[in-house]
Amino acid sequence: MNSFEFQNPTRILFGAGMADQLGEQVKSGGWKTVLLVYGGGSIKKMGLYDRVISQLQQVGAKIVELPGVEPNPRVTTVRKGIDLCREEGVDLILAVGGGSVLDAAKAVAVGVPYEGDVWDFLIRKAQIQGALPLGTVLTLSATGSEMNGNSVITNWEENLKKAFGSIHAFPKFSILDPTLTYSVPADQTVNGIVDMMSHVFEQYFSSTPDTPLQERLCESILQTVIENGEIALMEPTNYAARANIMLCGTYALNGGMISVGMQNDWATHMIEHEVSAIYDIAHAAGLAILFPNWMKYVYRERIDRFVQFAVRVWQVDPNGKSDEEIALAGIEATRAYFSRIGAPTRLADMGIGEEQLNRMATETVRFGTVGSFKPLNEQDVKAILQMSL
Ligand code: NZQ
Ligand code: ZN
Repeated sequence: MNSFEFQNPTRILFGAGMADQLGEQVKSGGWKTVLLVYGGGSIKKMGLYDRVISQLQQVGAKIVELPGVEPNPRVTTVRKGIDLCREEGVDLILAVGGGSVLDAAKAVAVGVPYEGDVWDFLIRKAQIQGALPLGTVLTLSATGSEMNGNSVITNWEENLKKAFGSIHAFPKFSILDPTLTYSVPADQTVNGIVDMMSHVFEQYFSSTPDTPLQERLCESILQTVIENGEIALMEPTNYAARANIMLCGTYALNGGMISVGMQNDWATHMIEHEVSAIYDIAHAAGLAILFPNWMKYVYRERIDRFVQFAVRVWQVDPNGKSDEEIALAGIEATRAYFSRIGAPTRLADMGIGEEQLNRMATETVRFGTVGSFKPLNEQDVKAILQMSL
């Protein structure tokens, strides 16, 4: 295990009815002018918008709105939010929605105190030095954005999708009420399952030795998601299933708690971001296609981890099988699970051919090789994309 520092400053309020604690959170923070950030209207359909507004009014907060955040949120929308905050003297940003809404709100939060253009943070031209405080009410279990400092933003004019991570961008508080995810449609529930499992993969497939606790934390999250995912898909209002998935999503990516002292990979995420930058597909659809192919491409680097994954997570029977056969059976079980719950398996399923393959590969390695389990150069990335066609 490597030495590490770990800090996660986000307060979590978890459980049915917790959305009604919002007013109290705003009041106790002493915030007066709130930028309410939300997406395309799901929060209005589910009645959450009215609940949020009435609580903010009750505590006397002035409300400024930034509606219409896109899935794969755009830097143009973020810039609008930054302007609003400056014009209206906003002192709290409140994101109500899924990962896209939360990510856009984070980018607004870090952009307000910065004199240059917020895109500078995404292309690593400038370092984040501070942020407005951010609170969130999560409505979709997937990204972990509710308890981490990451944000992923798309620049549609340049077909780029880039991420930043900063301690300044952790939410001050996040309200996680599983009943708010009852209305998440099946395809987005599937996306959430794939995304959180992928977050665990990025940390679990590591070359760092002697990390048994972290490995078991990863394995237990994967098993819990696998068991509860199918229940939530069959019974969307099953509280236990929605709550378990929500907790898994938050734990899977909350500043690296499950993988402290381990080198992470993240190559597959970097490749996926370049796919959705060009084709605007859901992040997890890209991951479901790419991850089994990444696994096939790299498993020989450390076959023992893939054997452990197959046996512990997918209960592959190791008897009479070679390590190679066990590892491949685990990878196949992953692909089969994604396919069974309805995730796409090939880029062609999303209408993607090889036209932009070179460009996606070049952009993925813009800052150098990606990944650590097996560092990938442009040719490697191209090979994985080709396997995924
Ligand atoms: O826009 P609205 O109307 O709110 O509808 C959304 C959207 O259409 C809908 N939705 C959300 N909650 C709902 C609901 N519909 C019904 N009932 C509800 N309760 O779901 C759709 C997708 O929402 P989105 O926020 O885009 O999904 P997700 O949470 O999967 O976020 C995806 C984004 O997060 C980034 C991805 O790249 C992508 O841009 N990621 C962020 C990460 C982070 N911050 O740590 C890490 C991830 O790896 C990921 O890259
Ligand atoms: Zn992800």
